Amino acid sequence: MSWFQILSQPLAILVLQVSWLCSVASATQSLLTTAIKIRNATVNDAEQITCIIQEAFRGAPHVKYVNEFMDLHPRHLFNCLLGGVSTMLDNPDVMIQVALLPNNSAPHDLVPVGVAIWEFPEAWPRISPSWTSGLFLHSPDALEMDEDCLLIVNISRAIDFDHQFSAAQRDYLDKSYPKSQQYYLNTLGTHPDYQRRGAGGALVNSGIEVGKKSNRNENVTATLIATEAGEPLYLHLSWESIKNFTVKSMDVVAGVREQWRFDIMKHDI
Ligand SMILES: *[C@@H]1O[C@H](CO)[C@@H](O)[C@H](O)[C@H]1NC(C)=O
Ligand SMILES: *[C@@H]1O[C@H](CO)[C@@H](O)[C@H](O)[C@H]1NC(C)=O
Ligand SMILES: *[C@@H]1O[C@H](CO)[C@@H](O)[C@H](O)[C@H]1NC(C)=O
Ligand SMILES: *[C@@H]1O[C@H](CO)[C@@H](O)[C@H](O)[C@H]1NC(C)=O
Ligand SMILES: *[C@@H]1O[C@H](CO)[C@@H](O)[C@H](O)[C@H]1NC(C)=O
Repeated sequence: MSWFQILSQPLAILVLQVSWLCSVASATQSLLTTAIKIRNATVNDAEQITCIIQEAFRGAPHVKYVNEFMDLHPRHLFNCLLGGVSTMLDNPDVMIQVALLPNNSAPHDLVPVGVAIWEFPEAWPRISPSWTSGLFLHSPDALEMDEDCLLIVNISRAIDFDHQFSAAQRDYLDKSYPKSQQYYLNTLGTHPDYQRRGAGGALVNSGIEVGKKSNRNENVTATLIATEAGEPLYLHLSWESIKNFTVKSMDVVAGVREQWRFDIMKHDI
């Protein structure tokens, strides 16, 4: 079910108030090449950022698997993600940057279309552990806290997924690079209507520049855990692959257990 179809349902009034960027644009994108602008996010960007993340990741197979009921509860999906975004915006040791491009339907307006969430080394251990695997994956802690998230996930899958993902993160990333020495890219996403225009690359490069400037400890390394879809961008931007791992589905369907590969990557700063 597309977001457009959801808007035609009775829930539309509630959804419309907050999902201004979540709908799929009808206008074609401007052919003018425009320089992408990057700036730090403010609390006023919370809803736009939530829309970007929602639309950027809702089609990812592992996200659909964990958030099995998200299409049935669009408002709760939005609120679940908004909770995570707000927590991140409140944390002084987390930097959220947005990429701005002209609105496809109103080209004179620059609007946020991409987002990067970076955790400074100082964020540990103060950061809420609930969102460390990304805003669309939920640790049992996050589920206990948030009833919006509880409605959209399959709880068994979320716990099992988190267990496997966290174990790999601990064994293959945090053991070699203590959290206090990681400048960690938690989330990078571009709204689907604005992809392939360089927003993701510009956000990563901008984040690395900030990391370099604020890196008073020579041992800090930029790190991330890429999905298969995200990996080519990071390889293109000269990130180095440290370790691939897979998370496996709980079910065997027609003799096959679905699995998703992630690539732990690093970049000097
Ligand atoms: C883009 O412009 C359209 C038409 O004015 C508006 O409905 C929409 O909310 C705008 N999108 C963003 C992301 O600002
Ligand atoms: C954005 O935020 C980071 C981290 O707080 C800071 O170092 C940087 O100077 C800010 N950039 C701008 C342009 O304000
Ligand atoms: C949650 O996922 C598990 C494993 O895929 C499945 O067996 C179970 O039926 C699902 N639970 C609900 C409530 O659908
Ligand atoms: C970097 O790590 C090495 C070895 O772990 C240590 O000896 C050194 O003091 C660290 N440097 C800084 C600036 O923390
Ligand atoms: C992880 O997989 C990718 C894609 O196959 C590959 O390019 C990369 O070298 C692998 N990383 C390691 C550490 O083997």
